[in-house]
Amino acid sequence: PCTVRSFSEAASIGVAQVLKAMMGMGIMANINAELEFETAELIAAELDLELQLKESETLEDELITEIEELDDDPEALVTRPPIVTFLGHVDHGKTSLLDYLIGINVVSGEAGGITQHIRAYEIEKDGRSITFVDTPGHEAFTEMRARGANVTDIAVLVVAADDGIMPQTEEAISHAKAAEVPIVVALNKIDLEGVDANRVMTQLTEHQLTPSEWGGDVEVVPTSAITGAGMDDLLETLLTIAELNEYSANPDRNALGVCLESEQQGDRGVVAKLVVQNGTLRVGDIVVCGPTYGRVRAMSNPLTGEAITEAGPSTPVNVMGLEEPPGAGDRFHVLEDITDAREIAATRADASSRQSLSGNTTAVSFENFQEM
Ligand code: GTP
Ligand code: MG
Repeated sequence: PCTVRSFSEAASIGVAQVLKAMMGMGIMANINAELEFETAELIAAELDLELQLKESETLEDELITEIEELDDDPEALVTRPPIVTFLGHVDHGKTSLLDYLIGINVVSGEAGGITQHIRAYEIEKDGRSITFVDTPGHEAFTEMRARGANVTDIAVLVVAADDGIMPQTEEAISHAKAAEVPIVVALNKIDLEGVDANRVMTQLTEHQLTPSEWGGDVEVVPTSAITGAGMDDLLETLLTIAELNEYSANPDRNALGVCLESEQQGDRGVVAKLVVQNGTLRVGDIVVCGPTYGRVRAMSNPLTGEAITEAGPSTPVNVMGLEEPPGAGDRFHVLEDITDAREIAATRADASSRQSLSGNTTAVSFENFQEM
């Protein structure tokens, strides 16, 4: 960090002159006061200095960049489950399809039947695993759909056959295209009487998603979350795409990935829903995630609630032990040293509070949507 003293030394001018310039700018400080990079720039300008100010490399740049850029030894790579995200317009059946696939019932517990959370579960089918991410379709939750699209390997675009392509379907298409991932269409509610699959296929074609049976490259699987029609087809299609793409990761490295959501849960403290993208996350690991950090105290399987001690690539996991709830969408990294983690988190927290003070961030609140 730059202090008034080190600034004056670097600029070869007296401390008194620096302090005087600062006073002129309305800043009262002493010789040991730390200067923000921006302040140092202003003082330099005030003193007419042609200072070559260089923003010092932060620990964050060093450590995190190193982790992100660490190439995995091809020998260490193993197949990992595909991360599959359900995207689509509100009420088109994303949660119902996922409920059917994993054999639980989330929909009936949702306030107003509207998903307000982003969820991730891992299921197994004939010995092969798939991680599913459910996103809300309500227009208020653009951010969560974007987040879902960000972690995904394959997007399942859920389109209700009776409704066809709607605004959030279009938005989901653009998220999936931006993420450059394969899109599979679940043409849902096919059990309803009088639905016209051809009409939806035409709409899809108009959105540059030409069904394979019409000569395009998009698999369109007619499904019903009520009768279960098309469910095996959907799973097979996803597993085939996964095989073609050979998704792989290195379980023998420190974990990194993304936080989908987090909250403060009374006695349990902070619970963060994380998805491990590479490496293995273990109880006891030191994690830095956005502007917070901590040591993993406990982890559980988000589907069964069972305690687990490690989570490999593509595993969704609820993690306890972080100091504060990280932001949704924040990346996480495992570090060796808790002091480093604390410092990186503090630097980020600092930067973001400075940003919000200057009013640069737009906070989005979902508090008006009550959870049951
Ligand atoms: P949001 O999360 O709010 O965006 O909705 P969603 O896409 O998760 O839809 P959800 O699964 O909550 O389903 C909405 C309604 O459609 C529920 O009443 C479901 O029972 C019904 N539904 C879902 N899938 C089917 C289906 O295949 N056939 C029929 N007939 N109804 C379905
Ligand atoms: Mg839902």
